[in-house]
This record gives sequence, C-alpha cells and structure tokens, in this order.
Amino acid sequence: MPPAIPHPAARRATVFAPRLQALFDEHLGKDLARLEPDTIGIAGAELADRILSARKATETERPTFKPLHGRSISRTEASAGIRTIGRDIREALTHPIPERTDLSGPWPITGHMFLRDLVLRGDPYRLRILMSRKLEIDTKLTWTTIVVGAALPGRPKPGPRLTHTAHLVAEAEGYQDRRYAMGMYRRLAAPVCFTISTLVANALWLGAPFDEGVPSRNILYEAMRLLPPSWNLLRNRSPEYPVIDDRIRPGDDLLMLPLLTHRDPALWDAPDAFRPERWDTLDPDDTPGYMPFGHASERCWGRHMVMPLAELLLDHIRRTGLVVAPGQRTAEVPLLGLLGVKEIHIGPRSRIRRARA
Ligand code: HEM
Repeated sequence: MPPAIPHPAARRATVFAPRLQALFDEHLGKDLARLEPDTIGIAGAELADRILSARKATETERPTFKPLHGRSISRTEASAGIRTIGRDIREALTHPIPERTDLSGPWPITGHMFLRDLVLRGDPYRLRILMSRKLEIDTKLTWTTIVVGAALPGRPKPGPRLTHTAHLVAEAEGYQDRRYAMGMYRRLAAPVCFTISTLVANALWLGAPFDEGVPSRNILYEAMRLLPPSWNLLRNRSPEYPVIDDRIRPGDDLLMLPLLTHRDPALWDAPDAFRPERWDTLDPDDTPGYMPFGHASERCWGRHMVMPLAELLLDHIRRTGLVVAPGQRTAEVPLLGLLGVKEIHIGPRSRIRRARA
C-alpha cells in the first residue's frame, strides 16, 4: 500500500509568542499556577468553574463594556447596544455573499475588511475608520480619532443609508454625547470585525482544506478549542476566591486560561490534534472545561452573531476553493488580548502554489 499522504495542515507549525509557549511548557495539565507574585493562572476546569460561578464580572473586568470615557455602561444600555448591532448583522445576513466575492489575500485583515463592508455598509468614513486595525496599536490613537470625528462639521444625519449602530451617533445631541456615541460605535462594531476574522483565520490555519462533509460550525468550535480568541479571562482579587482554594491569597488576581484548559490531557483525547469531528457528539455549551465564550453563568452576549457570520465566511471560502498557501509553513501567534495567527495567506489552489513561506 502506498504511504498515506499527510494532510497539508500537518506541515504547518504554529509559533506562539515566547510567553504563551512558556505557559504550555510550564503549566499544561496543572489546575493552578502562580504566574506573578500577585497573579494566579487557573487552568483546571473544575476550579475555573467554581471561580467563575462565585460572582459576576465587575464592570472593569468586562471585555466589551468597560466604562467608556469614564462613564459606566449600564446593563440596559449594553444590551440595547448589542440588540442594535445585532439588527445590522441580521440585515447583513439576509443576502448571500455573491459567488464572485474573492476572499483571497492575507488573513485576518482580508476578513476584517470584508466584515466591515458587509456589516457597516455605507456608514460615513469617520465611523468606518474606527474599525482600523492601526487604532489597536495605542488606545490614545482611538481616542484622538473619536475626538476629531465628533468635532468635525457635517456630522452624520439619520437616514436609510446609515446602519442602526451609526444612528446612535447621528441621533446624539451635542459634542459630548456624539463623542460617547462614537466610542460606543467602536465598542459594538470593532469586535465583529476583529474577533470573527481572527476566528476564521485560526480555523483555516489549523485545518484547511477541510473534508467536504464536515460542518463549518464544528470546524469553528474546534478552532476555538486550540486557539481560543479570548485566551484569558481576568477576575481581580475578591474575598470569594481564597475560600474556594487556599493556594489563592487575598491579594491575588486570577487569570482563567482557556488556552490551557482546552488542551488539558485529562479532558481531551489527542488534545493537540485538530479534530472537528469531536463536536459531532459534544455539546459546546455543556462540555466541561470548554469555555471559548466564557462561563455558563454569563456567556458572551455576541456569540449568536459570531457563529453565523463566521460560518458564512468559512462556507464561502470552502465553496470557492480557497486554501492556505502551501508554501507557508509557519504562522506566528503574538501575545495580544485577542489570540490568533498574525498573518496567513489564502488563495485559490491553482494560483497560490508557491506563495510565501
Ligand atoms: C470570536 C468571537 C468572540 C469570542 C471568542 C468572545 C468571547 C467572550 C468571552 C470569553 C466572554 C466572557 C468574558 C468574561 O467572563 O470575562 C465574552 C463576553 C462578552 N462578549 Fe464576547 N466574544 C466574541 C465576540 C463578541 C462580539 C462580536 C461581541 C459584540 C459586539 C461580544 C460581546 C460580548 C459582551 C457584551 C460580553 C459580556 C461582558 C462584557 O461586557 O464584555 N463578543 N465574550
């Protein structure tokens, strides 16, 4: 019998930033590890479950709705905001992606731009610019862009061309409120472009080309297991925690580490292998230690938008026969809040043969 041809993904190596690699090397399989004199990492599924059940995240721990320009964002306002961007996404999803749409190019940036245009459509430049990845370099840059955008004359006017999310800005009265509404626009729309393009890029890197019968949803669940975009969840020191485990001191902040929990050999068969088929029988909402969208007590509010959009992109890429450049053998995963491959090259099988190594 001729030797089996290895899957192209088997020739690809994911190169984690040294501090991420050190987490794997030093702490994989442990339930708890001291990372800094006042910071403990939690990788044990049961321990993470007890900690995350002990109390809700405070407003400064929340990734999306931290206070904005010093103003707290109430739960009512936060859920109204999520409903608003949700309406824009639902409208974007009513039309299939035109078959001729070419998603080849460097990822995640190509997916990011596509999502920006799909969801934010014809919103004015001063709002769409808030999706720029360059703003991630420095929060001061985001702040300046918002300040300038809010002060510019000729501000956005309500009307059918604007998204529902842009109406928050168009309907704001006066400079201060407009500035705040622009901050909210970024808070609501940026995660859609950033997180979903990263998730799809991670999936492509880990497993493309995929077998035809494998559902894109299972591919995405498995990608979030091995490369969880939210790779750590912070919980600041709190009196509930030392009671749960006496290795936690009153002054310790805690970092839940799905990155490690998701590869714990005690929980997963072949923990490092990319096997979307494991999700044929597992329930992602009820699998101990699987928490890409956080804990059951308060899961990501955006997850019902994330999954259909990510599937839409991945289905289109698969249908149009795009693959990872066979010449690309490594991809870096930098140490950032959002975990993902820095740049991978995607293109049609025929044209991308020898693309960059
Ligand atoms: C791949 C995509 C995403 C992943 C993996 C993800 C993951 C998570 C996780 C792990 C949490 C829990 C955080 C904690 O308990 O500390 C969370 C909370 C949350 N997520 Fe997501 N998320 C994604 C995309 C989005 C998007 C697109 C939105 C909306 C624009 C969103 C909105 C929220 C909100 C509102 C919360 C509740 C806490 C807060 O205010 O931040 N997420 N998400």
